[in-house]
Amino acid sequence: MIHRKTTFVSILCLTLLWSVAVPGAVPPGHAAIASAHPLATRAGQQILEQGGNAFDAAVAISAALAVVEPQSSGLGGGGFFLLHIADSGREVFIDAREVAPAAATADMYLDKNGDPLRGASTSGPLAAGIPGQPAGLAYLAQHYGRLPLKTSLAPAIRYAEEGVAVNKRMLSGLRFRRKAFDRWPAFGKVFYPDGETPALGTMIRQKDLANTLRRLATGGFAGFYKGETGRLLVAGARASGGIWSAEDLAGYTVVEREPVSAKVGNMRVVSSPPPSSGGIALINMLNILDGADLASLDSATKKHMTIEAMRRAFRDRAEYLGDPDYVAVPVERLLSPLYAAGQRVSIRSDRATPSDALPGIWPAGAKGDQTTHFSIIDSEGNRVAATLSVNFFFGSGFMVPGTGVILNNEMDDFSIKPGAPNGFELLGAEANAIEPGKRPLSSMMPTFLESDRGIAILGTPGGSRIITMVLLATMAWSEGADAEAMVSLKRFHHQFYPDQVLYEEGAFSDEEIHALEQRGHRLKKARRAYGNMNVVTWDFRTGEVEAATDPRGISEGRVY
Ligand code: GLY
Repeated sequence: MIHRKTTFVSILCLTLLWSVAVPGAVPPGHAAIASAHPLATRAGQQILEQGGNAFDAAVAISAALAVVEPQSSGLGGGGFFLLHIADSGREVFIDAREVAPAAATADMYLDKNGDPLRGASTSGPLAAGIPGQPAGLAYLAQHYGRLPLKTSLAPAIRYAEEGVAVNKRMLSGLRFRRKAFDRWPAFGKVFYPDGETPALGTMIRQKDLANTLRRLATGGFAGFYKGETGRLLVAGARASGGIWSAEDLAGYTVVEREPVSAKVGNMRVVSSPPPSSGGIALINMLNILDGADLASLDSATKKHMTIEAMRRAFRDRAEYLGDPDYVAVPVERLLSPLYAAGQRVSIRSDRATPSDALPGIWPAGAKGDQTTHFSIIDSEGNRVAATLSVNFFFGSGFMVPGTGVILNNEMDDFSIKPGAPNGFELLGAEANAIEPGKRPLSSMMPTFLESDRGIAILGTPGGSRIITMVLLATMAWSEGADAEAMVSLKRFHHQFYPDQVLYEEGAFSDEEIHALEQRGHRLKKARRAYGNMNVVTWDFRTGEVEAATDPRGISEGRVY
């Protein structure tokens, strides 16, 4: 769903000249929000109307999503916020990713034979990293917002008290997590109120979560990580097999990082650095394709080249990427156009490269729309791209009694054993092995695109497929697509292992399927459409801002 509004640039001649000379120098004059749920978008709008900026709106939207889209993100999870501060032009990456607890060990999810224990890294409190989202919200409000947390969290508290209707996306998550209802009564009591999977439209009230949000609103960081909430979290997690301590919670820290950025063709890409793998993979794939003269190729060859770029970027993801505070990630090399040129010459235009022909680690041996993304621009030109997650639908399925907080299962994003695929069939190596205090490698990648044409703010949920969804939308924007076209386009994906091209119905024509199979690609049609991309754009030439939400989702973009 898309909404647009045109800003008629100031009548002042000087301003006009300035705006022509420096695209984007004059603020857009309108705000735009695209999020996964209409109530979250409304929360952001209310905060802007109360004098908040895009960063306050991001706090309000994140907290609202924790209540109205709890299958995707929440206070028990974490995420990344990419900010553009209009006054200074500065870009900042706020890393509120979960961390492994101090008692975590590299082999904690392996049996005595060294084989992965089924479900250990995905269900229950042992699967949960120390949450980062509440700290991220407190940090954003304190360092970048204008309004107190009490104001920005008010809509979320109201939604939790009044209740939110079960929609089709929440219902999918509840069906997926049906067993958690039997195992963990706190979760069951809230989300299966009559002891059954609820019908569409059933109102879900979250009183404990409202109180937890209130303590965060009044106490900030300490209101969640210490005091009553902190005590309940540690006791509740430990009582059901978790290994958290009070020190783990009190010691959690948000990290401000430099985003990764690069000029590719006429476009500047600003995206997520490690512990996200997304920004590096995106720039690497764009660099590979930049020298391939895509405009001169027929559509099947263009898609073949894109698939080969995906394959190579995911190979490197598996080998090199991890938490930069623990491992030396060769960022400069992976972002270098020269490195990409070497990868490009290894691509044959007439043959798929089998993944096992590339040097790499090998498998010893869901997927999804869990996670959430929203994009915001305010009338002053401040921007936020944020991707938040509890990993699988409803994270670990475990709600800490008395808190309403559903714990993530983000520990599964670590490489629990080199070469053992995780829940997204992603491989990993030592760089992403479990260590106390370490952040698991992520595919979440809030991103900005900039050119003389304007700006795009984008991202999506979808596990490993996030990276290729953002690549395809970026390529489309660089070729002139608007926000609606970016969220709507049909998707295809290759992640090195398994060696197959997953595609949505309609992503390839019959001729393209034939041409790709002739080259040796193994194609697999996705059982259903995937992703839930939310994009905001600002067109410097027309002054128009647009907010577009994915037609696969339930929301609509708003311009104010
Ligand atoms: N939990 C999904 C990701 O961070 O990639």
